[in-house]
Amino acid sequence: MLKLGVNIDHVSTLRQARYATMLDSPNAEPDIVAAALAARTGGADSITMHVRGDRRHVQEEDVSRVKKACDLPINFEMASTAEMLEIALRLGPDFVCLVPENRQEITTEGGLDVAGQQESLRATVTTLRRGGGMVSMFIDPDEEQIRASAEIEADMIELHTGCFANLVGEDHVDEIERLVDGARLGHELGLQVNAGHGINYRNIGELFKVPHLLELNIGHSIVSRAITTGLEQAVREMAEAMQGYPGEA
Ligand code: PXP
Repeated sequence: MLKLGVNIDHVSTLRQARYATMLDSPNAEPDIVAAALAARTGGADSITMHVRGDRRHVQEEDVSRVKKACDLPINFEMASTAEMLEIALRLGPDFVCLVPENRQEITTEGGLDVAGQQESLRATVTTLRRGGGMVSMFIDPDEEQIRASAEIEADMIELHTGCFANLVGEDHVDEIERLVDGARLGHELGLQVNAGHGINYRNIGELFKVPHLLELNIGHSIVSRAITTGLEQAVREMAEAMQGYPGEA
C-alpha cells in the first residue's frame, strides 16, 4: 500500500505570517501539534517538516513538539549543512530527506545534485545513519542522480514530481516516462522509492503509472483543501485517492 507523508510546513507558514515566537502560546495559530494530530486521525502515515536555514516556516521547536505529541514517524527535510546536521542529530527523526535549499526560492524548486557533491553528501549520510534514521535524497528522476544516491549509500530516494505536476501535453507524458524509468532503476539498485512535490487531488491518479513507489509526501494541496474541509478530512480524501495503487505494475 502506498503510504502518505503529510507535509505540514504550510501550517507553520500561516502561523509565521504573524511572526509567532512563543509557539506553545494560544496566540500562535494555527497550532502545529493539533495539525499533526488531525493528519494522523485522517490517515497520515508520517509527518514531514522542513526546517529551512531562514526559518521561514517550521522552527526546530515545532519538530520537537510534534515528535513528543504524535506517535507517527517524522520525516525531517533539511539542507546538508553543519547547522542542520546538528539539529537532526539532536531531534532524532525517523527519516531525513536531504533537499537543496536556496534563499530566493519560494519552495524547493529542483532536485539535489547528488552526483555533483558525492563526497560531502556521503559524509552527511554516514553521520545521519549513525544517528539511527533512514536517509533519503530528493532528486530529479535522472539516471545519474539515482545512481549517485545508491553509490553514497542513501536508503531512499524521493523523486521530484514538480515537473510532472507543472508540465502539460507531450512534455507531461515524457515526464511520467522519466518517473517510471527512475522508479524502476531506483528499485533495481535497492533504494526505497518515494515521490513528492506538486501532487494534488487531480494528478494523483496519474502517478499510479509509476511503479515501486512506497511513500508520497504531500503538503500544499492538502493544507489548501483543509481551509474549507478541515485537515483531518483533507488528509482522509487524499489517503482514499491513493488507494488502488498497483505497486509493481
Ligand atoms: N517533498 C519535498 C522534498 C519538498 O520539499 C516538498 C515541499 O516542501 C514536498 C515534498 C511537498 O510538496 P507540496 O507542498 O507541493 O505537496
